[in-house]
Amino acid sequence: MDTDLQVKAKQLWKEGNELMDVDNYSEAHKKYLKALKINPNYCDAMFNISLAKFLMHDLSGALEMLRKLEKIEQNRIDIFLVHGRIASEYIKLLAEEQRKCVFAAIGIDPNNKGITDLVADINSKIALIEASFGSLGEKLQGNGEVYRTKNQDENKLTVEREEVTRNMLRKSSVNLGSVVGMQHAKKVLNDEFRLLRASESGKYGNMFQNTGIILYGPPGVGKTRLVLAFAGQHNLPVYTVRINEVLDMWTGNSEKNLQKIFDAAIRDPPSLIVIDEIDALGRERLSRDGSDRTLVNQFIVSMDRLREEGKGVMVMGTTNRPFDVDQALRRGGRFQTEIYVQPPDFRDRVELFSFFLSEFELSHDNEAMEILARETELYTPADIEKICREVLLNYVIDNPESIKPEITLNNVLSTIMGYRAGGRTVKLWYERLKESMGKDWFDFEYPELAEDVMKFSKV
Ligand SMILES: Nc1ncnc2c1ncn2[C@@H]1O[C@H](COP(=O)(O)OP(=O)(O)O)[C@@H](O)[C@H]1O
Ligand SMILES: [Mg+2]
Repeated sequence: MDTDLQVKAKQLWKEGNELMDVDNYSEAHKKYLKALKINPNYCDAMFNISLAKFLMHDLSGALEMLRKLEKIEQNRIDIFLVHGRIASEYIKLLAEEQRKCVFAAIGIDPNNKGITDLVADINSKIALIEASFGSLGEKLQGNGEVYRTKNQDENKLTVEREEVTRNMLRKSSVNLGSVVGMQHAKKVLNDEFRLLRASESGKYGNMFQNTGIILYGPPGVGKTRLVLAFAGQHNLPVYTVRINEVLDMWTGNSEKNLQKIFDAAIRDPPSLIVIDEIDALGRERLSRDGSDRTLVNQFIVSMDRLREEGKGVMVMGTTNRPFDVDQALRRGGRFQTEIYVQPPDFRDRVELFSFFLSEFELSHDNEAMEILARETELYTPADIEKICREVLLNYVIDNPESIKPEITLNNVLSTIMGYRAGGRTVKLWYERLKESMGKDWFDFEYPELAEDVMKFSKV
């Protein structure tokens, strides 16, 4: 580069620094930008731009600039340290934003399922952050300074997580009342809850200890919803394990992440560890690096550990692919209870339609509800929910002026006609099951499922 221009850029940089010294960040920012325009790889200018942005509370802008800078300058520790510091400010800011969103949503409709989903999602992220701090701390052991900071951070994150789970789940009051039908599964879970309390009291030794429950069935029947509602009903903090998020590219970290989640749940009984799509455990890992089973093994160790230390901790897994769940998990008292969640029957569908259409007069017309239920054999609650939403949407589009929406049976029926996916997923699920499994296997292990496979794969 032309030396004249270089001198000019440096001059602008210096002027920027003087402005920074008198806290005039926005003018300083302009100077640095000008310097950068002259020399697009001017690292010092980039570095100070990110500082100025940070001081002007533009955290995402600051981070973006640092990311660019790191591509050019890969060996400067000050860049990484500043980047890390700003990133942690950013996490705090976003956490606050998340908290506000959840509280605002609770204020509008405390029973909305999206709230529980969001809270579960936030919790799993926080658990993961904590988990990675944990492994970082171990790597840094001996380096007093950094290690202390790590401990402080960890405590803060733990407190935050507990606030999120306890307060928000309790306030969101998503309970079993918002889950239509599923009587059998609800009853089994309620029995399990009594056992959980008995085991937590410690009075009966290991007698009532049931470490795990698996809910299985076709997609969309409400397995995940039921687990979250169960937690809400009994005020149990939920520790969510998402296999993809637990998996870490560093050897040994996935196992540590999993262990951290179990540690946290054990410290906090009665509590629930939820593993959605539990069949992914093992499968994902196998496809990633071919051979090792360490994550499954760690999981088994953690489950077995619950029997000794985990009074009042229960693990609940859900899956659409029960036959893919690692055999070792289903043995040895790990997942003792398996609950088959069927698609809603006729009565359930009547209830589902009146539940999702409850804002309308039509929902009180039992005959109409029965007609709808008859038209929707093998439709899941998820299908029915979608249909009902669409009915409302169509109504609003067609009657923009209406103040109190009222719909007719025909409105719903025509939406059902237009909803081709309905019933397909469930039927396919049973058909696949029939194809992939020998008949003997069903008869022996899952008699109820075998019956449904025969019944529904023909519908
Ligand atoms: N029994 C139910 N009562 C009310 N809504 C339900 C029920 N089951 C499912 N839903 C609705 O359908 C959607 C899908 O349910 P989900 O629990 O994710 O199914 P699964 O985990 O079995 O695949 C949920 O978002 C929920 O709104
Ligand atoms: Mg699910």
